[in-house]
Amino acid sequence: MKILFSIVFAVLVLIFVAVQFIPSGIPANKPEDGKSIANDSLMTEPVIEQLRISCIDCHSNQVTLPWYSKVAPFSWLLASHIDEGRSHLNFSEWGLYSNREKIGILEEIRDEVASGGMPLKSYLMIHRDARLDSAAVSGILTWVDDATASILE
Ligand code: HEC
Repeated sequence: MKILFSIVFAVLVLIFVAVQFIPSGIPANKPEDGKSIANDSLMTEPVIEQLRISCIDCHSNQVTLPWYSKVAPFSWLLASHIDEGRSHLNFSEWGLYSNREKIGILEEIRDEVASGGMPLKSYLMIHRDARLDSAAVSGILTWVDDATASILE
């Protein structure tokens, strides 16, 4: 029995070591090029700061990677979050969205933030400071309304 355990354990360790050689696929960061939402005339400093704390690790080209980004299988999960997050909404490329797209995205942000769908729960377990309290939620919702109104003007 003991031998069997040792063999199983050794195999698991080998698998763990072997998968470290599979590329994680985490997309590379890109330099800021003035298209960021931070340059949007409707942004206010508190909202920028909140998005920076709570959203940009998955929705921008400026991602801060944690130590476990180098450890599979966590790195794969991270890669899919960043990949998918960016494809839905990339705050670094805000300036490239058309007005129609911006309005659609703002509406999605409203839904996600009001319902507590974002930031993702798995992210909040590790990044407790990214949680949105009620003041942060209402700050973002007010910005969403103002930005939408001004685009429609
Ligand atoms: C840990 C990564 C992560 C963080 C942090 C995060 N998101 Fe997301 N977000 C995702 C992923 C992955 C998707 C696409 C899949 C989904 O909808 O669950 C997504 C989708 C979205 C969408 C599109 C939803 C739709 O209906 O298509 C919006 C809007 C959004 N996020 C806003 C935010 C905002 C605002 C924040 C910060 C308050 C935030 N997210 C933080 C990963 C993240």
